[in-house]
Amino acid sequence: MKMRQMWVWMLLMALAFVNERCHCCLEEERISLLEIKAWFSHAGAGSHELEGWDKGHFNCCNWDMVVCDNTTNRVIKLYLSFVNSEFLNAVEDLDLNASLFLPFKELENLDLSGNQLVGGLKNQGFQVLASGLRNLKELYLNDNKFNDSILTSLSGFSTLKSLYLSNNRFTVTIDLKGRVINHSYLG
Ligand SMILES: *[C@@H]1O[C@H](CO)[C@@H](O)[C@H](O)[C@H]1NC(C)=O
Ligand SMILES: *[C@@H]1O[C@H](CO)[C@@H](O)[C@H](O)[C@H]1NC(C)=O
Ligand SMILES: *[C@@H]1O[C@H](CO)[C@@H](O)[C@H](O)[C@H]1NC(C)=O
Ligand SMILES: *[C@@H]1O[C@H](CO)[C@@H](O)[C@H](O)[C@H]1NC(C)=O
Repeated sequence: MKMRQMWVWMLLMALAFVNERCHCCLEEERISLLEIKAWFSHAGAGSHELEGWDKGHFNCCNWDMVVCDNTTNRVIKLYLSFVNSEFLNAVEDLDLNASLFLPFKELENLDLSGNQLVGGLKNQGFQVLASGLRNLKELYLNDNKFNDSILTSLSGFSTLKSLYLSNNRFTVTIDLKGRVINHSYLG
């Protein structure tokens, strides 16, 4: 084998090795995280909080506030607490867009607390989220601006173990079939 060929061969082997070692996140999930960042930015937030969420950084499993399963490399936890926060910036209220979160099929823990969320988009609210995220165990919606209108759709989350709802604008206390809610957090 010529020297030059040998170098090419060695380079290819090295690349294959690096690729195999990379516990990279799914492309689809990385793109969705960038869309979530854009969603927050559009409301005027996120410039500081999601700084490291960057097109150039391929492995989104290493991004702040993102936790992946260490065997499947799929996102299992998203801690998006106080990203769109009035303490940090002048920001707008947000409607939940369920489409942004549906690609995260293995998601177990979603924290959307403190983001000035007021409701869900028509046909893209909590009902859609509930039917799409079949592994969700913990959902944090506390410290937002939700009113009673979202409560009925929350019962669709059949796999939830904990639901955090304190510090919103609810006027009623509800019992979601005794299944889902920790009443300590219903504010
Ligand atoms: C993978 O994750 C599990 C559960 O989170 C943890 O117990 C285990 O130590 C992790 N393994 C590695 C290699 O990081
Ligand atoms: C909701 O998110 C999806 C996926 O990013 C996007 O295509 C759609 O335009 C968004 N809807 C609104 C009303 O912003
Ligand atoms: C509850 O919130 C929704 C979504 O923002 C809004 O359309 C509705 O008018 C609110 N209802 C009350 C009684 O404030
Ligand atoms: C509900 O929340 C309270 C306060 O944090 C905690 O002490 C309690 O263990 C929780 N109950 C359940 C069933 O998780």
